[in-house]
Amino acid sequence: RRPRICLGIETSCDETAAAVVVSDPAAQPGQGRPLGTIRAHLVLSQIDEHQGFGGVVPEIAARAHIDHLDRLVAATLDEAKLGLGDLDAIAVTSGPGLIGGVMVGLMTAKGLALGAGVPLLGINHLEAHALTARLTHGVAFPFLLLLVSGGHCLIAEVTGLGQYRRLGATIDDAVGEAFDKTARLLGLGYPGGPAVEAAARDGDPARFAFPRPMIGRPDCDFSFSGLKTAVRQEAERIRVLSRQDVADLAASFQAAVSDSVADRVGRAAEAFVASHGRGHALVVAGGVAANTALRTRLGDVATRRGLHLVAPPVRLCTDNGAMIAWAGLEHLAAGGDLSADDGLALIPRA
Ligand code: KG4
Ligand code: ZN
Repeated sequence: RRPRICLGIETSCDETAAAVVVSDPAAQPGQGRPLGTIRAHLVLSQIDEHQGFGGVVPEIAARAHIDHLDRLVAATLDEAKLGLGDLDAIAVTSGPGLIGGVMVGLMTAKGLALGAGVPLLGINHLEAHALTARLTHGVAFPFLLLLVSGGHCLIAEVTGLGQYRRLGATIDDAVGEAFDKTARLLGLGYPGGPAVEAAARDGDPARFAFPRPMIGRPDCDFSFSGLKTAVRQEAERIRVLSRQDVADLAASFQAAVSDSVADRVGRAAEAFVASHGRGHALVVAGGVAANTALRTRLGDVATRRGLHLVAPPVRLCTDNGAMIAWAGLEHLAAGGDLSADDGLALIPRA
């Protein structure tokens, strides 16, 4: 059992990212210690390219990935002081995501894997978000997962590698999407989440009594489109928004989101603890996990239900290559030959 080295590539949305992660075979899950180390970690954000459009433009994203990925991978290997020949595997996001970007990453990774003569592991982007807390905090199975990003919003019970049971999901917008749309409405620019959070800091969360979607419902689903509409109607009623209006709208929106998410997660935690007992982790992953107000609420929810909150550092919550490399190492350790499963058919075999 020697350390394994994996290069991870992520191009499914608007971040061109690559990282090298090394597994630590001596580390055991459940001890609160990382299961691997990040040797290099580079993320090239395309925010500037998409800013004028208020969201990610798939065609622009794909072209930007083509422009930058080769050099980014080279720089990542340089930073790790490694060559292609030192790698045990290459992992790449094979979906879900914007298809143009996914193809750029996948084709690049295929070429590199073929050249290096190492296995290529096609990684599910959501699974990579889910497993990040094992890399950073050595979280043991089973755990409860809240995945909140721009494209995804779900709660899952994770009982092992590849064993995910969905307990709830959004019936309309993802949380990050709701943040992004609200930001656009308030003239706060893109990406919306950090902008709304910053604006909310000076705002009064009690000024507007926005609806708390889904609260009290027996399932664990989410809904945010009604809330988004409520914010729009309030903004239209005020007509010319002052700085304070924007701050109050942002704070009131964020409070409604936090209440709703806390209620949904609380319900899922209750079901999770009923089947697995107390003492496990509630893992929050995805870009929205960067939100401090939400993290604080989730910490309370977890404690009240007998779980403990684990939130990876922000740079590993938003899209990155380390989470892809780590998911690759997990599958490599489990002996999973993902390339064949995914129809990638690219493992050069001896
Ligand atoms: O995981 P991620 O980088 O990409 C996806 O897979 O979607 O998540 C990006 C999303 C965006 O919608 C962004 O607005 C949101 O995460 N986000 C935040 C914050 N930082 C990023 N939402 C709320 N508060 C934040 N601080
Ligand atoms: Zn993501």
